[in-house]
Amino acid sequence: ATTGMVVNIKAIDDVLQREVVQRFGQKSINDEVPGFEEVPPCIENLLAHFRSLLCVLPERTVLERLRLEETPTFYGEWSKDGDKVTLTRIYEFAASHRLQQDAVSHEENVRLYGKCNNPHGHGHNYVLEVTVGGTPDERTGFVTDIEALDRAVEERVLLRYDHKHLNTDVPELGGKVPTSEVVATEIFRQLDGNVPGVLERVRLKETDRSVFEVLRGDV
Ligand code: NI
Repeated sequence: ATTGMVVNIKAIDDVLQREVVQRFGQKSINDEVPGFEEVPPCIENLLAHFRSLLCVLPERTVLERLRLEETPTFYGEWSKDGDKVTLTRIYEFAASHRLQQDAVSHEENVRLYGKCNNPHGHGHNYVLEVTVGGTPDERTGFVTDIEALDRAVEERVLLRYDHKHLNTDVPELGGKVPTSEVVATEIFRQLDGNVPGVLERVRLKETDRSVFEVLRGDV
């Protein structure tokens, strides 16, 4: 009520510098960070470790979420909500589409979809984020098999969507208006039950400013 801050961000930075940057920076985790002599330093185990280190947060603050990025196309998250660990892989595909409802007039289609109603379509470089969760394996520490996830996404989505016209070339989109809402939902359905672990989220980025998200339970 007096400072207008939940917490002074400097106090959080001090904790992170001390507990994470100084302990892990420039180190070989297996050889130089206590606790990882026997434990594989995979994202899942690192997130669990950081969670325990960060129990020293300033008063009145609660650790809500951690995100650890291993490469630009692979990151892990822990959320206090449900005490859940998930892994996310990022893929790309290019495709064209036209937003058009056959049942309504040309004028109405133009009013609804604007330039996205262009008769010969238009393209996007879609970025697809696929997030899976599960219980870490006691022996390996892994929540899921990332290579198996890559294979499933390749087979069920990328090979079928990349360089295709979404209105005509993808059976599950037939007769539907392939907005990113619809495409993300169909991708979720294609992957659900066919990826290792539990499919938690599909995010489809159509442009830098437009991102569409389907969560488990939404479909
Ligand atoms: Ni479009």
